[in-house]
Amino acid sequence: MNKKQLIQLVEEMTIDEKINQLLQLAAAFYSDKAEEKTGPMSDLGLNQDIIDTAGTTLGISGAKEAKRVQTEYMKNNRLNIPTILMADIIHGFRTIFPIPLALGNSWDEGAIEKMAEISAKEAAVSGLHVTFSPMVDLVRDPRWGRVMESTGEDPLLNSRLAAAMVRGYQGENLKEDHMRVAACVKHFAAYGGALAGRDYNSVDLSERQLREMYLPGYKAGLDAGAKLVMTSFNTVDGVPATGNEWLFRDVLREEFGFDGVVISDWGAIKELIAHGVAEDEKQAAELAIKAGVDIEMMTMCYPNHLKELIDEGRITESLIDEAVLRILELKNDLGLFENPYRGADEQLEAEVILSDDHRQIAKEIAQKSMVLLKNDSILPLNAQEKVAIVGPGAQSTDILGAWSWQGKKEEAISLVEGAHLLSENLLVATEKFDYFDPSEVAINEAIELAGQVDKVVLALGETDWMSGEAASRSDIRLPEKQLTVFAKIMEKNPNVVVTVYSGRPLDLQGIESAKGIVQAWFPGTEGGSALAEILWGRYNPSGRLSMSFPETVGQVPIFYNVDNTGRPYESAPEEKYVSKYLDVSNYAKYPFGFGLSYSDFEYQDMRTNSDTFTKEEPLEVSITVKNNGQVAGEETVQFYVRDLVGEVSRPVKELKDFQKVWLEPGETQTIRFILSEEMLRYVHKDYKVKSEPGQFVVMIGGNSRDLTTMTVRLND
Ligand code: IFM
Repeated sequence: MNKKQLIQLVEEMTIDEKINQLLQLAAAFYSDKAEEKTGPMSDLGLNQDIIDTAGTTLGISGAKEAKRVQTEYMKNNRLNIPTILMADIIHGFRTIFPIPLALGNSWDEGAIEKMAEISAKEAAVSGLHVTFSPMVDLVRDPRWGRVMESTGEDPLLNSRLAAAMVRGYQGENLKEDHMRVAACVKHFAAYGGALAGRDYNSVDLSERQLREMYLPGYKAGLDAGAKLVMTSFNTVDGVPATGNEWLFRDVLREEFGFDGVVISDWGAIKELIAHGVAEDEKQAAELAIKAGVDIEMMTMCYPNHLKELIDEGRITESLIDEAVLRILELKNDLGLFENPYRGADEQLEAEVILSDDHRQIAKEIAQKSMVLLKNDSILPLNAQEKVAIVGPGAQSTDILGAWSWQGKKEEAISLVEGAHLLSENLLVATEKFDYFDPSEVAINEAIELAGQVDKVVLALGETDWMSGEAASRSDIRLPEKQLTVFAKIMEKNPNVVVTVYSGRPLDLQGIESAKGIVQAWFPGTEGGSALAEILWGRYNPSGRLSMSFPETVGQVPIFYNVDNTGRPYESAPEEKYVSKYLDVSNYAKYPFGFGLSYSDFEYQDMRTNSDTFTKEEPLEVSITVKNNGQVAGEETVQFYVRDLVGEVSRPVKELKDFQKVWLEPGETQTIRFILSEEMLRYVHKDYKVKSEPGQFVVMIGGNSRDLTTMTVRLND
């Protein structure tokens, strides 16, 4: 269809059909079993007519079921408009990849694009058209359970990875390529700034922070072509995002030029009442439609009140028409008018979903996402050494992480299973070891095994329900019993490597004396084999943290790109009246960008092609990286800049670029970065984005703390 035909279609629709087009309903309403529908129908107070004309659905999949629902829907729909099937495919459909926070640790745009492409393919053959991903909320507070869904704390890294995900999901031509799905950038905006890390809590940010740190990730996803945006649950400067006209009309549509579909988060329109900005559902509907929210997810404010609001002159029908047109355009962009079933295909489902190929790629990406945090010459293990693998994570397949809807734990590979493929010298427990309350028998067995081996792998961590939506924690240490078991095992055998499954950076106090620590996150279906290959040296760890690990929860929010303050600790560490704590350092335990390798990378000979540069002639900065280790490995060379004097305080460092480099033992490579004037622009007092001449510190290194620096000048 062309735009004219779509406009014509809107004109043919009755006002009820148009309003219902703005409603999204969950799977239960389309069930072929009457008893599954009646409860939800009476809960929402809706009738069959609304179900038959509600514009989009949530959570239906399986090629056969998707086709059945679409056929039924179109049969009952007067104008034969197809529905869109949407769902949360966050880090894989059935083949589950590492959680997004882990993906962030790969710093690998190619890998992430591939992950999204495979997720899209599995989802598309199963009948889905849209995924509610990528989640690009910048995160600084590991207490918040949804940090697991973000790629981390840095605007530049988040932006690049958001764009990679959108490319992977959508491909080049959604209309023709039915193995892809449309992407939805979420949650607009600043959901990751929830106060005190408590989910759904208010967000209170300056407009400068919002624009400089939080908005770039969303913008990058939109620039890459994402078709939808989801509203966030939180307030932004006191106004809930879902009713925030400034955020959606001025920033998203006007400034960013977004002309796609805006969908509310689940129930978020009705929540405008609880937020205290709407007195009833009718006012909530008015605020949301005026803000430009096209689709209402799973509440009835629009169907029940929009017509009345038009009749009373509080809104114009044109607001509804523009929203309907955007939804029809999305249907058209997906090719649904030509083929309402799109990629749904039972035969392909059987071939593609969880294929060996997908599993292999999931393993490779899991390897890239794991981070070696500590290694006192204990890793890698070798097949001759006798090793015990104990602890709650040893045999666990609870390693998919939250938001893995179609993922099945029973299809995941545990660490023990992975290790069996690499070594015959293993001792493993027979007793089930609980994450929170292991039995005495299980604990004693683990200790006993530890006494019989050269080295112990103690697999600890969180369970999947401990992170994700509505899973904030105030204490982000490992569960207490795990710490006790660690101490007992260390007494028996100090050669301990701890592996950590988690959905957030944890406070690792209590296990820091382990000789080795591997952060494995929730690594997905092939997690155990990926982890075993790292432990036994088949894969040289290359992950680098995209979110800081605090020394203690008292430091959070903690992130590397802080402002200097007027009394920086570093200027007078012995002074009392400087910015510091009495009882803990200012610094992360493991900073942004950090990660060890079995190789040993040395940085030498940093140079610039000049001391000064201009808008017309950018600066070239180079450094030599050498692999002094015995094995080949991959380093992530990170390039940071500090603006020494600005119109407003500038962060002590900001990531501007990075490159991944593969080095054979003894090999040296020179890495070059270009610093342009454009890269130095920032949000000024008047919110204009521009740069100023002056001095800048350029920094290169293997993490955000250990950097080689030089000072250069930008001239007019
Ligand atoms: O997409 C999600 C969102 O991230 C949280 N609330 C529910 C939505 C739909 O499942």
